[in-house]
Amino acid sequence: MTPPKFNLGFFPTPLHELKNFSRAYAGHRIFIKRDDHTGLATGGNKTRKLEYLIGDALAQDADTVITAGAQQSNHCRQAAAACALADLKCHLLLGGEPPGEVNGNLLLSKLLGAAIHFTGEQRKGEDLELLAYKLKKEGAKPYVIPYGGSNMVGAMGYVEAAGELKQQLNKKGMNPDYIFFASSSGGMQAGLMLGMALYGWHATLMPVRIDKQERDGLSLKEIVRDMVEHGLQSLDISKKIDTGNIPMLEGFDDAGYGVVTHREKEAVQILARKEGILLDPVYTGRAFHGMIHFLEQRLLKPGTNVLFWHTGGLPANFHYAKHLVDQ
Ligand SMILES: Cc1ncc(COP(=O)(O)O)c(C=O)c1O
Repeated sequence: MTPPKFNLGFFPTPLHELKNFSRAYAGHRIFIKRDDHTGLATGGNKTRKLEYLIGDALAQDADTVITAGAQQSNHCRQAAAACALADLKCHLLLGGEPPGEVNGNLLLSKLLGAAIHFTGEQRKGEDLELLAYKLKKEGAKPYVIPYGGSNMVGAMGYVEAAGELKQQLNKKGMNPDYIFFASSSGGMQAGLMLGMALYGWHATLMPVRIDKQERDGLSLKEIVRDMVEHGLQSLDISKKIDTGNIPMLEGFDDAGYGVVTHREKEAVQILARKEGILLDPVYTGRAFHGMIHFLEQRLLKPGTNVLFWHTGGLPANFHYAKHLVDQ
């Protein structure tokens, strides 16, 4: 059964060719899917997940949403915006200590009215249930959204997105051979894998892992595998997915999560200066660098179509300003 949905964004998001950028890579046509244009406080991939998560919260008669992320979490900023729209109270658990300066996504989350709790070394939402318990005792009806919005409810947003993209591709008469995107808490990847099976089309997924740290003792591949196995059952998908072989491009995250190196900086600058499109330094900049690596090293089959799925993250540029341009 499809979970209830609360509309938050603008869809379908644009799909277009990166004509200037493609010129350096003769033999490939390179396209971009613009989920930086989903709306909801500057856009991003969490709009799609939150449509289902907020729909579920409202169906359960919740009056409060609790979720967790890093201090510059795009998910948390978009959750705060979604709560504003749905008239829900929003509590955000953010790893680390209060920063000296409030900027980027944290600034926006505060502007959007979220209550912020800094959780020190508990960086991956370990305290979500504890806060839910406390708020319940105070008479609230909390709904917990997991770290990154990544469970099967949230992943439904990308099951649906796979159908949206299929329709756009059919109209253009084009099929991408490869799809590059940033994968971090795994919900987008699981949703896409399920959606492609459900809507019956194929492209080689090239998920660039953004954070090598495990969560709840599980690697990102294992988290995606578990969600896909759950989704195959709950969506009653008969097409087989080889869950023993979850795609994942590892190694681009060796510097660590949120550490901006010359690679991310160059990727952000290249797309900005060739196409006027803004990536972010944590997720999409890292994923775009991954794609550039495959193009430069000629690791993709000649003559193929390549799609980069832009997943947002704009506000983090303001936080990482000194890593991105000379001051
Ligand atoms: C801008 C951006 N891109 C990609 C991702 C990764 O999506 P997922 O967490 O579903 O793997 C995130 C997650 O926070 C994000 O903020």
